[in-house]
Amino acid sequence: MPTFVTMKWTVQPTASDGASRALCQPTIQALKAAGLSEEQCSILKGREARGVKGWTSFPGEDAGLYARTIDVDARDAEGLHKLRQAGADLGKLLASDKVDHIHVDAGKGGDTVAEGVALNSYRYTDLLGKKASEAWTLKGIQVAHGSKDQADLSKAVHITRDLVNAPVWSLTAMDLADQAEKLGKDHGFQVTVLGKSQIESLKMGGLLAVNKGSIDPPRFIILEHKPENASNDKPIVLVGKGVVYDTGGLSLKPSPYMEDMKCDMGGSAAVIGAFCAMASQGLNKHVIGLIPATDNRPGGNAVTPGDVITMMSGHTVEVLNTDAEGRLILADALHYAKKYQPSLVMDLATLTGAAARAIGRQASVAMGTASDTIMTDLVTSGFDCHERVVIFPFWDDYADLIKSEIADMKNIGGAEAGAVTAGKFLEHYTDYPYVHIDIAGPAFLDAPWCYFGKGATGVGVRLLMAFLNRQD
Ligand code: BES
Ligand code: MN
Ligand code: ZN
Repeated sequence: MPTFVTMKWTVQPTASDGASRALCQPTIQALKAAGLSEEQCSILKGREARGVKGWTSFPGEDAGLYARTIDVDARDAEGLHKLRQAGADLGKLLASDKVDHIHVDAGKGGDTVAEGVALNSYRYTDLLGKKASEAWTLKGIQVAHGSKDQADLSKAVHITRDLVNAPVWSLTAMDLADQAEKLGKDHGFQVTVLGKSQIESLKMGGLLAVNKGSIDPPRFIILEHKPENASNDKPIVLVGKGVVYDTGGLSLKPSPYMEDMKCDMGGSAAVIGAFCAMASQGLNKHVIGLIPATDNRPGGNAVTPGDVITMMSGHTVEVLNTDAEGRLILADALHYAKKYQPSLVMDLATLTGAAARAIGRQASVAMGTASDTIMTDLVTSGFDCHERVVIFPFWDDYADLIKSEIADMKNIGGAEAGAVTAGKFLEHYTDYPYVHIDIAGPAFLDAPWCYFGKGATGVGVRLLMAFLNRQD
């Protein structure tokens, strides 16, 4: 099970003994005011004159110093991205220099630079075995002029990444529920877990169908953050796809497409991470989280292509491809969400390869029936935290592609617009303002990209928190 290796994050004006320091200011003049020596300033000047950008390191006896200029507007998304990128670049240096404690002083941009350091320095070390003792990890980040909210957020992203990186042997649906309960206790949000018999009583036909080929029972996990000062009467509901492993089921995936499918609970991990962040930050909104969890396997009585299943809502679905399983489990969760009379429901899911093929790891695909204001807020939030979101069309004619002759709908469309037909499938189970976010592109990386190393990015946590913080 994941151990949630988290860095110690403190807000403090000066570096603790033994910590290396990173200074980042708009100009060399300002760096000097922040403590850079005359000699170090002239070295930086010389390098800048030769067109060298980025960090210059000044190794010290027991603690080093890293310095650079960066002149950006920290109020706009582009400026924030550059600060985060500078932090990520610093993270790479800390890894190669094996620095384990860093103090970041970047004035008002400190939190954002530190965020970049944390995103880049994340390592999944739980299964390194004998290599664990040699592995470098960043143990502490200290930030001058930083905030507790950023510390809480960065830790939450780490938790999400640990959950996604955990292979299914250490994270079954039962384990995911246990982890949610543990995190709820640690952070202060409510967690209720429904077991198989309760899922059966609720007639969650989608979740049960996907679970049929599995040896492990499913779980339906309910999270709640309900602060006394909540500014909203009707809750916001966040739904996360919790397929702890997606083999494709009887419509088995070829191995190269299967090997990373431990990431198929990335949506649920992002929802859990967001609850950790909102509870520790004390967000003043009433938010509910719903996570249908199971693996998707071809064993035993696995649902077969051609089966027709009845969903919790009463709709029937012709299952033509058992690898289109995410929409089956999400549909039951979206139907369940109706009982809260939510003002808004957002789901996050590693739902389609089509979303990843359309726009790559650079962004998530979103679509839905929520107001233009909500959609615009989401896009703006995406730019602000650099978890960018592209709105896809959601026109009704796409729903024609999933009409079935023998049931209410079928679970796959044709070769075209696969990300949108998946969203249109889900829309049938909603009666409230709805946003579907397909994170299949950015959730899990096969090579380092942007601020991140290989593996889970924790995408969704920073997006959700940026979005929730924009709502009044
Ligand atoms: N979990 C996959 C989608 C996925 C692909 C996530 C790549 C992350 C990276 C999903 O369950 C799936 O298999 N979708 C199918 C749908 C198809 C059968 C209609 C796909 O995209 O191929
Ligand atoms: Mn699948
Ligand atoms: Zn899947």
